[in-house]
Amino acid sequence: ARIREVEFAKSSPRARDCPRDDRPEFAVIGRSNVGKSSLINALVRKKDVALTSKKPGKTQLINHFLINKSWYIVDLPGYGFANAPESARMDWSSFTKGYFLNRNTLVGVLLLVDASVPPQQIDLDCANWLGRNNIGLTFVFTKCDKVKSAKGRRPDENIKHFQDLISKYYKDPPPWIMTSSVTGLGRDELLLHMSQLRNY
Ligand code: GTP
Ligand code: MG
Repeated sequence: ARIREVEFAKSSPRARDCPRDDRPEFAVIGRSNVGKSSLINALVRKKDVALTSKKPGKTQLINHFLINKSWYIVDLPGYGFANAPESARMDWSSFTKGYFLNRNTLVGVLLLVDASVPPQQIDLDCANWLGRNNIGLTFVFTKCDKVKSAKGRRPDENIKHFQDLISKYYKDPPPWIMTSSVTGLGRDELLLHMSQLRNY
């Protein structure tokens, strides 16, 4: 499951502009600012392969990164970003749905969920949409390094609550992994999980 090499392959404005080859790929999705680009950097152990920002709405294109010349990890724009200026707001529904429904080489979706906040309806909606369309997903909880805020709950409490909600929809809930791009928590587990999915 080791990453020896990573290269930026392509930024695509639409699903039909994505690289055309047979290599398997994983899509990284989730709300704006959940830590998608940071997770990719943590996985490949490079600081700025994927561009990150404190402001939501940083990633606006479909970005393919080629790992070990054999598989892709794909950074996608976040959803649920309502406060963006008109130009930076995007229609996740048509743009990203087009990608998910037409990308034959997609072996799995990593749905990132911020463990430092309570469950968000939009994440549950996204999981349900993927489930209805038979797209295999793994929940990747991010920011597990964050400690409890004054009135907030701990990441493990938020995760438990999220899983309780998910178990209402799934007989057989998707796999899940706790991560932190700051401490590296979950990195090896996630890489191993992805290598297993590639070999199915
Ligand atoms: P968009 O591209 O806007 O959709 O955002 P994104 O999901 O790619 O988020 P990004 O990786 O740019 O990170 C957003 C912010 O969260 C940055 O300030 C990161 O430093 C911070 N962040 C990301 N992952 C973690 C984490 O594991 N722990 C902590 N404490 N902060 C994180
Ligand atoms: Mg991003």
